[in-house]
Amino acid sequence: MTSIPLVDLRAQRRRLGDRIDAALSRVCDEANFIMGTEVAEFEWSLADFCGARHAITCGNGTDALIFAMMAKEIGPGDVVFCPTFTFAATAEAIALQRATPIFVDVLEDTFNIDPESLLAAIDTARSSRLQPKGVIAVDLFGYPADYDSLQEIAREHGLWIVSGAAQSFGARYRGRSVGQLAELTTTSFFPSKPLGCYGDGGAILTDDDELARCIDSLRMHGKGTDKYDNVRIGVNSRLDAIQAAVLREKLAIFPEELTARARIARRYSDELGDLMRTPHISNDVSSTWAAYTVVLDSCDRDKVAAGLKQAGIGTAIYYPVPLHRQTVYRDFPCADRNGLPQSERLAKSVLSLPMHPYLDDATQDRIITKVRELAD
Ligand SMILES: Cc1ncc(COP(=O)(O)O)c(C=O)c1O
Repeated sequence: MTSIPLVDLRAQRRRLGDRIDAALSRVCDEANFIMGTEVAEFEWSLADFCGARHAITCGNGTDALIFAMMAKEIGPGDVVFCPTFTFAATAEAIALQRATPIFVDVLEDTFNIDPESLLAAIDTARSSRLQPKGVIAVDLFGYPADYDSLQEIAREHGLWIVSGAAQSFGARYRGRSVGQLAELTTTSFFPSKPLGCYGDGGAILTDDDELARCIDSLRMHGKGTDKYDNVRIGVNSRLDAIQAAVLREKLAIFPEELTARARIARRYSDELGDLMRTPHISNDVSSTWAAYTVVLDSCDRDKVAAGLKQAGIGTAIYYPVPLHRQTVYRDFPCADRNGLPQSERLAKSVLSLPMHPYLDDATQDRIITKVRELAD
């Protein structure tokens, strides 16, 4: 029996391979590998796709977060709040600027930052005489965080919000696209992301001309009027022209792929919802379904994962250890001194099933049948 990968990048390649190879060949023939028209055209299309004024690409999604933190000029004594149930890059971007990440719990239904826990974290910061500056709101598994509630808290407490959209670029929230929900939005083009390239890549989206100029400078050694005019300390983090060419082809079919992902997610939920907690779906918020993640709290999650592996079905646990429990982050403060219970529970019970736009009905049936058998 053929195995079923968690994400089947080869399936997309079967559809798009010729067009991507032609695009790659064009870049190689033009021999313009750094910035140039491929990158400029892609940035324009990316901004247009989500209705942002600027898209600034960079080397990866982690750098996109780091640039957001650098552009907001955080430093020692400053606090940026972030969920604990996320990928390490979120906290890394804060800590690398010598600022303090304060870890916040998540909501059990959406897996995203809990506004109540954020309020508790703001109190924690104030009582430690640290200066609250902003929030990184991660849209976990592709489902946007509760931006309306977060913006209300941010306004009241003088905070900015960065939308951590590494997994959610392409999603919508109450009539707006991800990319328009915060002052700065960061995303990743890691190959397995809904919009992924053939290596590393990332981008920042913003409507703010000044922030856009600053990030454009940061990604190219702090350039001023030209690359030999250095006005700030920056780094070298650009999207390769080759990756931009791949992404231009992928962006053209991205809306169709998002529709396919949503159909597959709905089918999983219809077929599994009676046995386990399936992901939250709402009428006015859409997900990119970067991952389709169920919560297995009434059976042995690890046994189900092992059974699926034995049946040749790929799964993943995002994330097995919340950041506040990680060696490097455990001395940073949390919203609640007694722990972040939802995140800890989720870390023990989540399981992501195969998800990509080319999962056909028969393959999905095989997964559903096996999951039901193991979880029952
Ligand atoms: C939530 C989140 N933030 C940031 C990143 C970092 O992106 P990259 O791997 O492109 O650096 C990822 C990628 O896995 C992610 O899932």
